[in-house]
Amino acid sequence: MSIAEGNNDPVRTGRIFITGAAGFIGFHLARLLLEEGYAVHGYDGMTDYYDVSLKRGRHGHLEQYPHYSSTTAMLEDHETLMEAARLFRPDAIVHLAAQAGVRYSLENPRVYIDSNIVGTFNVLEASRELAIPHLLMASTSSIYGANEKMPFAELDKADEQLTIYAATKKANESMAHSYAHLWNIPTTMFRFFTVYGSWGRPDLASFKFVDAILAGKPIDIYNNGDMYRDFTFVGDLVRGIRLLIDTPPERPAGKDDIAPGDSLSHVAPFRIVNIGNSDKVRLLDFVEAIEVNLGVEAVRNYLPMQKGDVPATWADSSLLERLTGFRPNTSIMDGIAEFVAWHRGYYGH
Ligand SMILES: NC(=O)c1ccc[n+]([C@@H]2O[C@H](COP(=O)([O-])OP(=O)(O)OC[C@H]3O[C@@H](n4cnc5c(N)ncnc54)[C@H](O)[C@@H]3O)[C@@H](O)[C@H]2O)c1
Repeated sequence: MSIAEGNNDPVRTGRIFITGAAGFIGFHLARLLLEEGYAVHGYDGMTDYYDVSLKRGRHGHLEQYPHYSSTTAMLEDHETLMEAARLFRPDAIVHLAAQAGVRYSLENPRVYIDSNIVGTFNVLEASRELAIPHLLMASTSSIYGANEKMPFAELDKADEQLTIYAATKKANESMAHSYAHLWNIPTTMFRFFTVYGSWGRPDLASFKFVDAILAGKPIDIYNNGDMYRDFTFVGDLVRGIRLLIDTPPERPAGKDDIAPGDSLSHVAPFRIVNIGNSDKVRLLDFVEAIEVNLGVEAVRNYLPMQKGDVPATWADSSLLERLTGFRPNTSIMDGIAEFVAWHRGYYGH
């Protein structure tokens, strides 16, 4: 564990505590906020789920900003988490640290309980004790599980999770709702949909495809290619988060106080918001965009559906648009071009 001092001068826009700041999404969010003049404190345990040097690279980049400070520790270490948050005095906490990954959760379920259940509980406790004005936390499109009604909307019943990863995220939503209700913590839960872009996660399909194609190795395409994903460009995603930071939910006076289609709880300042591209893209079209950008054709290895996987995800992002005026709009071709350019630069090929 280490706590690095940052410049603690007051800044124009506020102080944001980000868990998982050395992660893919946390890094992009921290960088966006720092560019806008926020003070950011990053809290990350630098877990070895994937290449730690990539996390160090992101972290090193953030450390160049004078208003960035950080703590390297696990969420499960509740005393360190509390101390870091108390010292920083955040206006908002954005909780992104988690054990992610659908497939890894089949072989390593326990780490999901430790990071996602115990870790999130500690974030909730810190938020309660410090009376945080707005807590924002990551959930996932995976919680829609076996749902067949598309696009997935926040008010759809989502009770049929297919993996322990999705189950822990669903549990996080319930835990956060109870804390919002009991302790009046304004809380926004995001449900993210297959995020891609520069500084991405090596375990995600976009990254694995680029690696394999460049190495001349076959890429695994599940369900024989009959797969659809609402691919969301990371730049759009963090812009949505940034706008939601300024939109804390307020406890409604009653059910009549809630607009149609709003997921706001009728008993708590708690809301769930999808952040997706609102477009169901065929996996094979995504692969084609990568091939065009790399100028290399992929060797395709068609495989059956994987256990715990779903054939399609598709977000209804109209609530995000109504709350923030923003709708993710980066095309697959533009988003992949950004990712491929970064990959080429970072790995020097
Ligand atoms: N990337 C996606 O497509 C996607 C989709 C849906 C939901 N999400 C959610 O978004 C969030 C961010 O995902 P990401 O893609 O940036 O993942 P990531 O793995 O790149 O980032 C997570 C970070 O959290 C840290 N971390 C993990 N467990 C920790 C613990 N117990 N204590 C302290 N730090 C810990 C890791 O070191 C990592 O840097 C996660 O909650 C994930 O479940 C991501």
